[in-house]
Amino acid sequence: MSKDYLPQFYAMLEQQVGIALDDTKQYLLESRLLPISSKNGYADVYALIKYLTLTPLGPIHWQVFEALTTNETSFFRDKHVFEALKNTILPTLIESRKTEKTLRIWSSACSAGQEAYSLAMMLREDFGQLHDWTIYIQATDISDLILEKAKTGIYSAMEANRGLDAHYLHKYFTQIDKGAYQIKPAIRQMVNFSNHNLVGSWPFYPKFDLIMLRNVLIYFKQDAKDKVLLKKYQQLNGEDSVLILGAAESIYMNELYKLVPLDKISYYKQNTPVKA
Ligand SMILES: C[S@@+](CC[C@H](N)C(=O)[O-])C[C@H]1O[C@@H](n2cnc3c(N)ncnc32)[C@H](O)[C@@H]1O
Repeated sequence: MSKDYLPQFYAMLEQQVGIALDDTKQYLLESRLLPISSKNGYADVYALIKYLTLTPLGPIHWQVFEALTTNETSFFRDKHVFEALKNTILPTLIESRKTEKTLRIWSSACSAGQEAYSLAMMLREDFGQLHDWTIYIQATDISDLILEKAKTGIYSAMEANRGLDAHYLHKYFTQIDKGAYQIKPAIRQMVNFSNHNLVGSWPFYPKFDLIMLRNVLIYFKQDAKDKVLLKKYQQLNGEDSVLILGAAESIYMNELYKLVPLDKISYYKQNTPVKA
C-alpha cells in the first residue's frame, strides 16, 4: 500500500474541484474511496489513487471527486439567514426591482436542493405580491448524483423533518410512501438545476440579485476562494445585490466586497469603487 501518490492526488483534487485535502484527512479518503476501489478491483484505495494520478481525467476521476464532496444540508438551514431574507433582504430587493418585476436567485453548491426549495417555498408563502413577476432560481452543484436527487424533490422523512415545520410539509409536499415526501410540482418548477463546477469554466449566466454560496468555500484554500469570489462578484446584479455565505465563512481582506451586518447575520454587497 504505497502512499507516494497522495501529494499528486491532493494537487489534482484541488485543481479540479477546489477541495483542499491533506494527510490529516486520510481517514476521510479511505472511508469515502473504499467502496469505489473495491468495486473497481483495486487492491486498496492507494492503488486507486495511484491509477488516478497516472491517467488522464475520466469518469472514475469524477466519481472519486464526487465521493470526496460533503453534501450536508437541510431545509431553511440557519434560521437567522432565512429570517433576514424574509424580513429585510428580499423586501429590499423586491422594492428596488418593482419596475422590471424580475428576481434572479442563485443557490450555488446547492447539494440536494433544500436551500433552493426553501427559497422557492418562502417566496410562495410570504411574497404573494410576486405572482406576476419572473422569478428565476438557478441551483447548481458539481455532483451529478446529488443533482439527480435534487431534481426529483424526493426526501426521506428524516430529511424532510430537518428544518421544515409541519405547515410547510403539509402545504408544499406530498407523502409518496411511509418514509418519503416529494415537493409539489409548483415548487419544483420554480427551480432550475444544473451542473456547475465553481473552480471550472463558467458558462454564461445572467446577473443575479441574490447569490447563496454557503458551506462550500470552507473546503477551499484562499487562492481558490478568491477566484470564486471574483467570479461571483461579476455575477451580482449591481451594488444592491446580495451575496450570502455560510455561518462559518467570511470574506477577509477583499476590497471587492463590503460586509453588511444585520442583527444576527451578515452578508455581502459589491463595494462601491473608492474614488481617488
Ligand atoms: C456542505 S454542502 C452545502 C450545501 C448548501 N449550500 C448548504 O449550505 O446547505 C457543499 C456542496 O458543495 C458542493 N461542491 C463542492 N465542491 C464544489 C465545486 N467545486 N463546485 C460546485 N459545487 C461544489 C458539494 O457537491 C456539496 O453539495
